[in-house]
Amino acid sequence: SPRDIVERARAARAALGERAFILGHHYQRDEVIALADVTGDSFKLAREAAARPEAEFILFCGVHFMAESADILTSDFQKVILPDLAAGCSMADMANIEQVEAAWDDLIAAGIAEDTIPVTYMNSTAAIKAFTGRHGGTVCTSSNAEVALRWAFDQVGGVEGRGKVLFLPDQHLGRNTAALRLGISLDECVVYNPYRPNGGLTPEELKNARMILWRGHCSVHGRFSLRNVEEIRAKIPGVTVISHPECKHEVIAASDMVGSTEYIIKALEAAEPGSDWAIGTELNLVRRLAQEHPDKNVHYLDSTVCFCSTMNRIDLPHLTWAMEQILAGEVPNQITVDEDDARWARSALDQMLALPG
Ligand code: 13P
Ligand code: SF4
Repeated sequence: SPRDIVERARAARAALGERAFILGHHYQRDEVIALADVTGDSFKLAREAAARPEAEFILFCGVHFMAESADILTSDFQKVILPDLAAGCSMADMANIEQVEAAWDDLIAAGIAEDTIPVTYMNSTAAIKAFTGRHGGTVCTSSNAEVALRWAFDQVGGVEGRGKVLFLPDQHLGRNTAALRLGISLDECVVYNPYRPNGGLTPEELKNARMILWRGHCSVHGRFSLRNVEEIRAKIPGVTVISHPECKHEVIAASDMVGSTEYIIKALEAAEPGSDWAIGTELNLVRRLAQEHPDKNVHYLDSTVCFCSTMNRIDLPHLTWAMEQILAGEVPNQITVDEDDARWARSALDQMLALPG
């Protein structure tokens, strides 16, 4: 029964003590968040994983690419556990390493690889982070994309120069950050489609681009539309629209505030009682914000947008099962990255951790 599972979960958590550390991403279910030692956006969770060298088990309640990054940033003694191995990310699945290597060959053929630096969003496989590290680039998250892009352009002649960034795999975060924070024009942002020869781009288009955006997106955030923003503004005058930068450009351009999950939480904490907020992100988080701020009016930017189905796979039964397995001497659902990829991916992750701010 639900009550039994809560009791089993609490007992297992207590029995594990300091051997385990539980990290919970903000899109996790309430029942999982209740057991997390730390909650955060993907940047904060990467830092927290690296800051717990004494915990033998890092139970990562999030998705696969986050657990891989935690494995890369922790010592060999530590084991990173993903309570349900089916918790992937559809965006991360939109770029595989063979496709990215082929794209790089296209840039070499166009004569622009030397002036191009890769930047990969955290939401990518370890192999793509390793590719990024091998080519001198950096990882970024939605909370440091602007600093990461400025740093990257500095490596290839500055934002005002002619150098380029190959941005993987979320076209929206790349475009939104370049256009709205760095002042790069939308015409200078091109989309590389891995399913078309030469990415569907002419050599001329590649040469003129400043941002070469991978054709990936988040299936949850991709559903918000400009119409949602217009409708909520018409319905609730004075509403503040706050969105995650994985939303489409027209949604972000029409929003009042834009930022990571942690940024959205802090904005709501600082909000005036009685104020109206429309939030463009995943439903578990918006619902929790509505519960935590009964004195503020929290609205969904689009009430038909649903949970991130893969984040949602981690539930109390899976987390409890993982903890009980550990107590029984097993190592359930361990996430490991092979040493060669780990070395280069670590270099790209360390570069991100060393960015200012
Ligand atoms: P944050 O880094 O903002 O938590 O985002 C992670 C994510 O997967 C958003 O879809
Ligand atoms: Fe991936 Fe989107 Fe889910 Fe984030 S919300 S984990 S980007 S599918």
